[in-house]
Amino acid sequence: MYQMLDPHELVVFITGATSGFGEATARRFAQAGAKVIATGRRRERLEALQAELGAENCHIAELDVSDNAAIEAVVNALPAGFAHVNVVVANAGLALGLAPAHETDLSDWQTMIDTNVTGLVQTVRALLPGMIERGEGHIVTMGSVASDYPYPGGNVYAATKAFVKQFALALRADINGKNVRVTNIEPGMTETEFSVVRFEGDQQAADKVYEGMTPMTAEDIAESIFWVTTLPRHFNVNRLQMMPVAQAFSPFAVHRGE
Ligand SMILES: NC(=O)c1ccc[n+]([C@@H]2O[C@H](COP(=O)([O-])OP(=O)(O)OC[C@H]3O[C@@H](n4cnc5c(N)ncnc54)[C@H](OP(=O)(O)O)[C@@H]3O)[C@@H](O)[C@H]2O)c1
Repeated sequence: MYQMLDPHELVVFITGATSGFGEATARRFAQAGAKVIATGRRRERLEALQAELGAENCHIAELDVSDNAAIEAVVNALPAGFAHVNVVVANAGLALGLAPAHETDLSDWQTMIDTNVTGLVQTVRALLPGMIERGEGHIVTMGSVASDYPYPGGNVYAATKAFVKQFALALRADINGKNVRVTNIEPGMTETEFSVVRFEGDQQAADKVYEGMTPMTAEDIAESIFWVTTLPRHFNVNRLQMMPVAQAFSPFAVHRGE
């Protein structure tokens, strides 16, 4: 029988665990016997998750990934049993708005860059040295199909995810031989709070995105993360791109006339 890793050996550090992919990933790993460090800005949600999963399996820490000092403080304060992180799920991120580039709010662009790019590299930088030192680990970065397929209004969001994809691939080049795996997860349409955040709390606008089709779920994405990280240690999935069956590609847009 094909031998997957025992999840009991995994200590999983997750950013953005208060909602969506991160929360589902925390559940998937904790329920399989892994130890999970769930982080995010909303403390009440972290406390509820810890109450559900049990404090012996789930350590929580309030964390804004755009604050590097806060990341280092959380990593340095990990309690015994959670300190030897061997899976990092750098997932925290967001899209804001769908306005065209010439009309968008510059502060929205800055927030996406601070979270999706700066926050992600800070998370990886804080946890990678420990993995290298211990000779074992797995970095999972949260990309998107937006890194390969631009769409109107995607502008800086798509660009942050292109950064994440290339950063993940470049990491593999740097740490080859160190027994640390890197996987960029690249989902398409998945119903979480993602669209509610994108449309600043407008639930109706968010619901419209998934109207009349079946999107992927946070559990689908958590399952893919669980799969890549429990594969045998010699096996590295570099990129994993996923879409709901109802989502596909369209031809190039062609503007005709003046
Ligand atoms: N849903 C999709 O269709 C889709 C597709 C491709 C990729 N993605 C990516 O998947 C990731 C997770 O998104 P999701 O769909 O699960 O959306 P979500 O339900 O809105 O969850 C986003 C998570 O990121 C956290 N977060 C946002 N800003 C943060 C910050 N500054 N510091 C720490 N945590 C922060 C949020 O927690 P707090 O607000 O509590 O901090 C929340 O837990 C994102 O990187 C997103 O770009 C989503």
